[in-house]
Amino acid sequence: MTKATAEPPPLTLTLPTEADTAALGVRLAGIARPGDCILLEGPIGAGKSSLARAFIRARLGREEEVPSPTFTLVQTYDAGGVEIWHADLYRLTHPDEVWELGLEDAFQTAICLVEWPDRLGAHVPEGALRLRLEAWGDGRRAVMSGGRAGMRKALGDG
Ligand SMILES: Nc1ncnc2c1ncn2[C@@H]1O[C@H](COP(=O)(O)OP(=O)(O)OP(=O)(O)O)[C@@H](O)[C@H]1O
Ligand SMILES: [Mg+2]
Repeated sequence: MTKATAEPPPLTLTLPTEADTAALGVRLAGIARPGDCILLEGPIGAGKSSLARAFIRARLGREEEVPSPTFTLVQTYDAGGVEIWHADLYRLTHPDEVWELGLEDAFQTAICLVEWPDRLGAHVPEGALRLRLEAWGDGRRAVMSGGRAGMRKALGDG
């Protein structure tokens, strides 16, 4: 049986240079709102942190230092009353650690950028935007699916 509500096809954007990855981060920063979660997928060195850094700086409106949360697992930022949670779950050993980190609450109230979201197991929040970065020649491409209604359209039109 086919599903009644068909998922629209993924949106693919090519990112020939690192500047294009950053530009996509800036565009996402322009449309994200509290309760939005962006799942940053892709192998080591794909550009997940590069995209998150550009997103966070755009949202903060300054060239803040944005360290990779490889060891801290989570870094939080206050962007004018909106919290941004930048998580790197590579080192998560069990999905239940998501609770200990406080991510479940953050998914409701903050803007969350999550690297290595496969570690979330069943804790993936509903309506999350999946953004997969893949090698594309010397550059990358981004394949996006899911997300709240209109989110991908806003990106595709921008
Ligand atoms: N569109 C692009 N084209 C070419 N190089 C890129 C592009 N986007 C990012 N890069 C480069 O790829 C590298 C990405 O590193 P980054 O730390 O962002 O990866 P990551 O996906 O977060 O890796 P990890 O899984 O280790 O956290 C950087 O050296 C960056 O300059
Ligand atoms: Mg990273």
